[in-house]
Amino acid sequence: MHKLKESISKRMSEYRYLHTLSVARECERLAEIFGIDGKLLITSAYLHDITKEMTVDEQTELCRSMGEKLDEYAILSPKTLHSYSAPALIKRDYPEFADPEVLSTVRCHTTGKENMTLPEKLLYLADYIEPTRRFEECKKLREFFYSDLSDPRKRLDSTIFLSLKYTLYDLLAKGEFIHPETVKAYNSLCKIGVL
Ligand SMILES: [Fe+2]
Repeated sequence: MHKLKESISKRMSEYRYLHTLSVARECERLAEIFGIDGKLLITSAYLHDITKEMTVDEQTELCRSMGEKLDEYAILSPKTLHSYSAPALIKRDYPEFADPEVLSTVRCHTTGKENMTLPEKLLYLADYIEPTRRFEECKKLREFFYSDLSDPRKRLDSTIFLSLKYTLYDLLAKGEFIHPETVKAYNSLCKIGVL
């Protein structure tokens, strides 16, 4: 892990690196709460924003060269582009970490998706609530999640549901494009009645 940390620190700004370390720490904590082996989850945390500071052109070219399919939504919703290009970069530059669980967890960390797996949910949550996040919504979600862990899986679902609600509100308020996977993630939790 030390080598991976050193390598990613050279690929991003200090601000992004500190966020990344904080997401990894949050994932470590969550893995303990959920009683899972957090190795792959923490690896996903270290790599999740690895392409976020590359230009749109660089990311597009990276995806093309690695055969990573870019759909129209990635272009319409540029904030999500790094979740397409990060798996491409992991396969190219960190093949030792290109486990299917890592790739899928990184791939959906920005938009969410329908029927997310536990590690996918945990990275999604950690990215939102890690302590260096100062937005009001992030603080509220952090408090909401940690205020009642009597049934952690249920709490996880309701916290993700709330975060998706905030994201959808925000995108609607700004009149921005909504990635269909975010709507699917929201609907899949709505269907099982998480609140
Ligand atoms: Fe992130």
